[in-house]
Amino acid sequence: MDDSSPARDPIGKSATGPAVDAPVKILAISGSLNGSSSNTALLRVIRDAASLPDEIALFEALDDIPHFSPDREREPAPPAVAALRAALRDADGVLIATPEYAGGMPGVLKNALDWLVGSGELYEKRVVVVSAAPSPERGHNARESLERTLRMQGAPVCESFTVAVPHGQTEAAFAETADDVLMRTRRALVAGVYDNA
Ligand SMILES: Cc1cc2nc3c(=O)[nH]c(=O)nc-3n(C[C@H](O)[C@H](O)[C@H](O)COP(=O)(O)O)c2cc1C
Repeated sequence: MDDSSPARDPIGKSATGPAVDAPVKILAISGSLNGSSSNTALLRVIRDAASLPDEIALFEALDDIPHFSPDREREPAPPAVAALRAALRDADGVLIATPEYAGGMPGVLKNALDWLVGSGELYEKRVVVVSAAPSPERGHNARESLERTLRMQGAPVCESFTVAVPHGQTEAAFAETADDVLMRTRRALVAGVYDNA
């Protein structure tokens, strides 16, 4: 940063005043391993639609994260875990898009988050939670379980909502949904904490 740049905290707020238009680096994580996942597709469209260079990085190694065990924590971190931790350290904020499985977040996502309890990368990391579901009243159990886990790790949840992705939705409508999620995410990460606890 050169001396003429305004001081800002990592989320894009001026140290001395209101939010500035500084880029925010967002790590996007999908909680679904499904090849045709609407949550993963949403994050891909958001990444590709982001106009600011490097604004969104998509973590794509969820499937490579081994089952968590405290024993394994005493060994060198598996590559996918090390990659997730590094990506989180590098990010100003996080966007997690997850389906609901059996009334909660998918086990693969919870497993990945368990690897972060001891290492602490989520501590004070602002997070936006979204669930892409076939209808707007779905996904809230997944979001609630995810929100609880994030707060337990010290991550402020700035926003949490479901977006409806009905079967057979057009590409144009899906792109509009993605645009809306990106806008809400940017705004929430800069504005700060929403508290639904
Ligand atoms: C194993 C499994 C369990 C599910 N459990 C629920 C559930 O408890 N509540 C719900 O609303 N939807 C449930 N669903 C539906 C998914 O959450 C929903 O279709 C979601 O949009 C899938 O997201 P994806 O396309 O990103 O994989 C379940 C789907 C699967 C495969």
